[in-house]
Amino acid sequence: MSETELIKVPQHLAIIMDGNGRWAESKNLPRLEGHRLGSESVEKVVEACSEWGIKELTLYAFSQENWQRPTEEVASLMDLLKIFLAKKRQKLLKNKISLKAIGRLELLPESVLRELTQTIEATRHGDRMILTLALSYGSRQEIIDTANQGIRHAMSLNDPAWRFDEKTFDEWLYTEGRTAPDLLIRTSGERRISNFLLWQLAYAELYFTETLWPDFDEKELKKALLEYQSRERRFGKTPEQIQKGQSS
Ligand code: FPP
Repeated sequence: MSETELIKVPQHLAIIMDGNGRWAESKNLPRLEGHRLGSESVEKVVEACSEWGIKELTLYAFSQENWQRPTEEVASLMDLLKIFLAKKRQKLLKNKISLKAIGRLELLPESVLRELTQTIEATRHGDRMILTLALSYGSRQEIIDTANQGIRHAMSLNDPAWRFDEKTFDEWLYTEGRTAPDLLIRTSGERRISNFLLWQLAYAELYFTETLWPDFDEKELKKALLEYQSRERRFGKTPEQIQKGQSS
């Protein structure tokens, strides 16, 4: 397999975009500048992913824990999001990218929710790539919400014997049974999952880079994708079983 050519890209890529604050601090700039440049990286990465044939991209844009940041920083992040959603709507539409969002969206400011809903609605037929923004998102919360939905379901059926199976649980998560990520990238040198897609990442390959998110571009993305294509994914099987499966 070529070491510089992309032959096998993940179907679904998930990214924890980290390091905006440190990028800004290293340049004596306000943290907001880091987030602003970070949103430019988002644009570059979305385009590159759709060009390279990635079918799903999920970005951790705002975690449930991020609500605890200083009010001004939260407000700036919400503004950036609003700008992104309004400014990129036509481009997403043109590039056949369908936008989705996961998380406790009802906690978002009304103006952000409005832009989000409009963009989701406008792009819903896009079939080239799904771009999912995790907003006000926490994976434990998602799992608890799903479990509670199951309890309510059993109660509504008046059937205490009702049980989830793996497939139904997966379909009732915020991600509604869509393909799980094949690759998770986290920038900025941190090596944690930080309450992101805990269920969905069960078999994902993990890739950590020291690069801070505002410096993450097509070149950095390609590096991660090349590393991914060199890995053998076995899903608990032996290498021989995988080889046989590939040749049959
Ligand atoms: C982590 O950096 C990043 C975030 C909390 C938010 C990510 C947001 C963006 C990239 C911009 C807006 C998003 C979109 C989709 C347009 P950090 O602030 O935690 O960095 P630090 O760990 O260095 O402080």
